[in-house]
Amino acid sequence: MYFKPNTPSVAQVGKTVIGFNWIGGKELEGDLPSFDSRSAVDSRDVVGILPEAGARDIEKAAKAAAEAFKSWRHVPAPVRGEIIQRLGQVVRENKEKLARILNREIGKTLREALGEVQEVIDTCTFFASEGRRLYGETIPSELPHKTLSTYRRPVGVCGVLTTCCSPLAVPAWKIIPAVLCGNTVVWKPSEDTAATAYLFARCMMDAGFPAGVVNVVQGRGANGAGAHMIAGIGKGFFQKFSLTGQTELGRTVGETCGRNLIIPTLELGAKNALVVMEDADLDNAVQGALFGAFGSGGQRCTSVGNIILHAPIAEAFKTKFLEAVAAIKVGNPVSHPEVMYGPIINARIGTAFEAHWEKGREEGATLLTGGARWTEETRTEQLLGETHKGIYMQPCVWEGVTPTMEIFQQEILGPTVNLCVAQTFEEALEMANATPYGLSSAIYTDNRIWIERFKTGIQTGMTSINNSTVGAETHVPFGGNGWSGNGARECGRWVIDWYTRWQAINDDCSGRLQLAQIETDYTKSIDYGKSNWDHI
Ligand code: UN1
Repeated sequence: MYFKPNTPSVAQVGKTVIGFNWIGGKELEGDLPSFDSRSAVDSRDVVGILPEAGARDIEKAAKAAAEAFKSWRHVPAPVRGEIIQRLGQVVRENKEKLARILNREIGKTLREALGEVQEVIDTCTFFASEGRRLYGETIPSELPHKTLSTYRRPVGVCGVLTTCCSPLAVPAWKIIPAVLCGNTVVWKPSEDTAATAYLFARCMMDAGFPAGVVNVVQGRGANGAGAHMIAGIGKGFFQKFSLTGQTELGRTVGETCGRNLIIPTLELGAKNALVVMEDADLDNAVQGALFGAFGSGGQRCTSVGNIILHAPIAEAFKTKFLEAVAAIKVGNPVSHPEVMYGPIINARIGTAFEAHWEKGREEGATLLTGGARWTEETRTEQLLGETHKGIYMQPCVWEGVTPTMEIFQQEILGPTVNLCVAQTFEEALEMANATPYGLSSAIYTDNRIWIERFKTGIQTGMTSINNSTVGAETHVPFGGNGWSGNGARECGRWVIDWYTRWQAINDDCSGRLQLAQIETDYTKSIDYGKSNWDHI
C-alpha cells in the first residue's frame, strides 16, 4: 500500500492513500488521469488519489470477473465461507483504521463510523456460516425411482454501484453474499469515498480473495466510471446488477436491466416517518427522532424525514425536541469526536439542501430552527472546531408541514426534519404512508392495538416499534417498497435469493424413459365396495 505525506497545513489529519483499481488480482492505473478524494471535513486534505476508470478498464474488470467465475463457482461454498470469515478477521483487526478513514473522508463521526465497520464484520460473520448452509431441497417425484432436488446456483458477474452514504456497510451487504454464493463482482464505489473503498479492497486482498473474484473500479458517477458500469449492462458484462442510489438512477438501471433480462437489486431513496402517539415515552421518542434525523447529518437512507405527532402531545414533544436539538453539538468530527454530526458529504448534497429552505418557506411551512449554513458569522456554541473547510449545516426543524408539501414528499439528504400533526391514529398512519417511498418507519406507543395496526398498515419494508427508523441489523431483510426500490432485499438469508438462481434436478434411476403427467400411475387403490351412508 502506498502513502504520500499530505500538505503541511493538513498534516495532522494523515497521509494520502495512493490507490488503484483492482482488476484480475492486480492493482492497476486507470485509462484516465487520477482524481483526488478530498475530505468533507477539510477540502485541502487529500485523503486518496485514485485512478479514474474508463470504459476499457470496466471491460477489463468485467472480463476478469467472467474468467474468475469459471472456477470460483465450483469452489465449495464452505470454502468460500472461510474466505469471507478471513475478510471479517482482517476488517476486525483494522476496525479503528477503517473507521478513521471513513471519519476523515466523509466526516461520519467516529462512533458511527465504528458502528459501520462493525456492520461489515457482522455481515462477514453471518455469511461465513451461510457457506455451510446454502440449502437446497429434496422433493418427492410422482414417478418411481426418480429423485427431484433443487440447488442454488450463482448468477454470474455482478455489477455493484454504491453511494457515499454508508460506503462500507452497503457495499459489504452486496459483495459478501454475492461472492459467498459463487458469483464474481465488479464494484464501482462512490468517488466521495474512494479511499475508504480502496482500503476495503485491501482487506479483501489481505484475506486472500482469489484474482478476479472481486474487482474494484474507481471513478466518478454520472459522467464517468458509473455511467460506463451502466453501459456495461447493455454490453452483456453483467448477469446481475445491484445499485444503492437515488430513485431516478434506479429507474435508469431498472430499465436497462429490464431490456437485458437481468433482475437488479435496487435500493433507492426514502422519506421515513416516525410517529409519536399520545401515550409514548416522550423522552425516548425525542432521542429516537433526534438520532434518526441528525445522525450521520441526516445522510442515511434510513434517516427520519417526517415526525408525525399525535395532537395531544404535539406541543410537549415540540418543546422537548427543540431543547434537545439546541443541545446537540455539531462540527468537525475529526478534531471533536463528541459532535452529533459533521459536514455535508459533497457539494451536490449541499446545494440540494440549501434549495429546500426556499421551497419550505414558499410552501408555507415554518422554520423553527436552522435554515443557514454554519459560517464564522453564524457560529454559536453549538458549533465545535474548525469548520470553514467543509460544508456544515445548522440542524433544521420545520413546523406546519402537511402531506401536500414537497418538503414532506421529497427525500432531502442533510440535517432537516418536519414536524406534522395528526388528530387520530388513523390520520397518523395515513400520513406515514403518504409519500411515494416505503423504506423505513417507526412508531412510539405502548398501545398494543395501535402497534398491531401500525405493523399491518404501514407500507414500508422495515418498521420499528419504540426505536428509530435507523439502525437495521445485518441479519434481517433490508429494503423498501414503492420508490425506495424494486422489492429486492439485502442482508440475512433473504439476500441469497437475489444472488442465486434455483436449479431443479430431475434424477431418474429407473433405467427407462418415464413421462411425468402422461405415465404417472394414479390408479393405486383397492375397491372395498361403496359404504352405504343413507341410514346413518
Ligand atoms: C444507508 O445509509 O444507506 O439502518 C444504510 C441503518 C444502517 C444502514 C444505513 N444499518 O441505518
